[in-house]
Amino acid sequence: MKFNKKDTSLIWNKYYQDFEDGDWLGNQYPNEFLVRYVSNLRKKNDIKNYFNDKGEEIELKKNFKGKALEIGFGGLANLLMLSAKGFDSTGIEVSENSVKRSNTYIKKKKIKKIKTLKWDKNSKISFKDNTFDLVIGLQCIYYNTDIKYVIQEVRRILKKDGNFIFSFFSNKHGYMNYIDHVDKNIIKWSSKHPNKRIVDSEHYHVKSKAHLLKLFSDFKSKKVFTFETDQLPIFQSWWYINGKK
Ligand SMILES: C[S@@+](CC[C@H](N)C(=O)[O-])C[C@H]1O[C@@H](n2cnc3c(N)ncnc32)[C@H](O)[C@@H]1O
Repeated sequence: MKFNKKDTSLIWNKYYQDFEDGDWLGNQYPNEFLVRYVSNLRKKNDIKNYFNDKGEEIELKKNFKGKALEIGFGGLANLLMLSAKGFDSTGIEVSENSVKRSNTYIKKKKIKKIKTLKWDKNSKISFKDNTFDLVIGLQCIYYNTDIKYVIQEVRRILKKDGNFIFSFFSNKHGYMNYIDHVDKNIIKWSSKHPNKRIVDSEHYHVKSKAHLLKLFSDFKSKKVFTFETDQLPIFQSWWYINGKK
């Protein structure tokens, strides 16, 4: 296939192709905010009741039942964590390299409760309605420029009261200094972007927390929170949104 420099899925596939040999691709450890989110799923999320967990402080955080889906999993770190928490876990990815490397690892280690599959951006997610108890997508979902369709798909495959968590760049993220506008809601990383491997990749641009909440208006119990750090050379600023169907 001819490499189309502007296709975000192929840009990511190529990004992973260049990784050195080893285990799975991408992050080697699970996302801290995901771990915290899942660990608190069965705890009461209000200040009065949050600490009312005496005698089940550990038990509440494990032995989950049901199915989880990770969109844009990249590597196995989050899926292994979800599986350790008890979920039957599936990951979908636009990058063929990512799926290949993950499947090799799963086979080699005889991992039972994780499946990974290829998926095309902006497209139908190949599961029946009301399949999942949890759907997640961190640092990736915005690469679907038809974000409204993908969010509808997430709603379709979630069970009633099923949970979701996604993250988006906030407008303060350091990467926002390196954007070209493609269309009303679509931006791409410009040629000045310091990470040359992702230059030209297009994504849906969320302009504010209110905009983010509007995208998820069909869901209930929504919460948006921010994570920021100046630990790395590029200022990191993310908006996370979680809620229920
Ligand atoms: C920064 S990595 C994050 C990986 C993983 N979610 C994590 O938290 O470790 C971005 C991921 O988005 C994936 N990606 C690219 N286009 C995508 C799309 N349209 N939908 C979902 N994921 C996509 C890439 O292949 C890559 O694995």
